[in-house]
Amino acid sequence: MRKKLVAGNWKMHGALQQNSTLLARITAAASGLACEVAVFPPYPYLAQAQLALAGSVVALGAQSVSEHASGVFTGEVSASMLAEFGCRYVLVGHSERRALFGETEIVVAAKFEAAQSSALVPILCVGETLGQREAGKTVTVIARQLAAVLERVGVAAMASAVVAYEPVWAIGTGVTASPAQAQEVHAAIRAQVAALDAGVAEGLRILYGGSVKPQNAVELFGQSDIDGGLIGGAALVADDFLKICLAAN
Ligand code: 13P
Repeated sequence: MRKKLVAGNWKMHGALQQNSTLLARITAAASGLACEVAVFPPYPYLAQAQLALAGSVVALGAQSVSEHASGVFTGEVSASMLAEFGCRYVLVGHSERRALFGETEIVVAAKFEAAQSSALVPILCVGETLGQREAGKTVTVIARQLAAVLERVGVAAMASAVVAYEPVWAIGTGVTASPAQAQEVHAAIRAQVAALDAGVAEGLRILYGGSVKPQNAVELFGQSDIDGGLIGGAALVADDFLKICLAAN
């Protein structure tokens, strides 16, 4: 049985007071939840979150990481720095990073490798645009995004990683993939990994992200290959985020 994971990606939202209230609500509720819970604040708030989460079951993650270990890379943050601030997870290849910051499949694979070299668990985000879906290319696009990472790190690396399927057209739009649409892609991702290593595929957690709300979470998380969610907007509202966590119970 794969333990479900509900991950809250705060994106570029937050402020000290607001974070403090949200983190207090989440930590107070988390010990009663059956799923694993993780929060992904912006970099400057990692230290605040590390303190707030100390002694709780809630895990900490970062939204991105440099592919480099250290050096003259102004503005970048390395995997070892994230590890020092208590991060367990890091997102790599989020569609906003790919689309707005020019992260190529090669860069995403390098970030995945850098994360694991500091014992962080990468959450590899993959997803198709609306145009790609309408052209019938969804599974091909996702397969290529996954293959770029598999070619670099090998299938064994997926044993300490998570995949998140986030259709670009569903992110922040209020439009959610139907449970059947999501399940189809999740099953294809698992099959691609299973073709290389059935055991790794069986243990691999594949999250769904894109307009997950309390109203649709139960049905999404009920699909056989959906192992939790990567939550954006609803992760900023304690009541909604906790209802989504309950849906993964
Ligand atoms: P929304 O839940 O706001 O659609 O965002 C999804 C997402 O991108 C999480 O990483």
